[in-house]
Amino acid sequence: MQRAAAIMLPQLGGQALSYGAGAGPGTLIAWLVGHLQRVEAHPVSITETLITGGNSDAIDQLCTLCTQPGDVVFAESPTYHLAIRILRDHPLDLRPAPADEHGLQVDVLADAIARLRREGRRPRMLYTVPTFHNPTGVSLSDERRRALIELAEAEGMVIVEDDVYRELVYDGTAPASLWSLAPRGVVVRLGSFAKSLAPGLRLGWLNAEAALIERFVNSGLRDSAGGTSHFAGMVVAAFCESGAYDELGQRFRAEYRRRRDTLLDALAEHLPATCSWTKPAGGYFVWINTPVDTVALLPRAEAAGVGYVPGSKFHIDGRGQTALRLAFSLYPPDQLAEGARRLGQALKEVV
Ligand SMILES: Cc1ncc(COP(=O)(O)O)c(C=O)c1O
Repeated sequence: MQRAAAIMLPQLGGQALSYGAGAGPGTLIAWLVGHLQRVEAHPVSITETLITGGNSDAIDQLCTLCTQPGDVVFAESPTYHLAIRILRDHPLDLRPAPADEHGLQVDVLADAIARLRREGRRPRMLYTVPTFHNPTGVSLSDERRRALIELAEAEGMVIVEDDVYRELVYDGTAPASLWSLAPRGVVVRLGSFAKSLAPGLRLGWLNAEAALIERFVNSGLRDSAGGTSHFAGMVVAAFCESGAYDELGQRFRAEYRRRRDTLLDALAEHLPATCSWTKPAGGYFVWINTPVDTVALLPRAEAAGVGYVPGSKFHIDGRGQTALRLAFSLYPPDQLAEGARRLGQALKEVV
């Protein structure tokens, strides 16, 4: 980052510190469009791309621009717990769309939408993390992806695809994004530099049909330049153009794969046979099903020096009491292995 700033600042001088364009820095968008095409072999145009202040910002602004108070918005459950908080900042009728070990249950969602229709209502949006899910680590199957797109298209429901973990893939390749599979206008795809570069940058992007990008660009927030940081965007553009982004991505993937493998081996060694857990092919998370109440277990686990997030945090309707989420992104392998041992011990004491 230091080197990228040192390249960019003499080139741009004071321009780097001025208000930027409403859609975000053009050089970053140009790099991103080429990069996305390399990552998923799917053409995306500059007019379909907007720089955001990360996915949290994008979810919030989508609610502001695309929903009315009282609109029905589905969120898969379990889902990223902080997205639930952002959605709840808006006066929406938030409803759970249940997910199982293969991701969102599209047939259950279709039934819920049919019930809504009988009340004379339609869903406005669905929030989902179909690839390397937070908190479960699973990815939606191709079959369910296609069924979901068909359903959304038929119902006029916008799918908000939170695609933040796409580049952190450890086995094979990541599944095709909903954005790349769907006709234009059905999916808004949210990407972020938070996981593939650094969260403190507060930078991400959004892909949507050009008309929606225009609405963002013409919003009051962006008109006042209250959108994203032009300066951070220009540093990241220089960083990415130098080839450092691709190099860093390879390092992240190799290291996180090592951490995932270590954690999965240690769970197999230390957890009671009554537990089961996901084996993520990408992302940060392992989701563990246990026979105990994981909120009640947490103080005992913390006293033993190991932490986790209880499963109920990720559900809109309070389910998930016996599940928990582990993240393998932060700690080195030896600490992950020790953490698994301590978690296993705490579980065995209660079981
Ligand atoms: C699914 C998901 N979406 C979004 C975010 C946050 O993204 P950002 O930092 O770009 O706001 C996270 C971070 O944990 C996440 O797991």
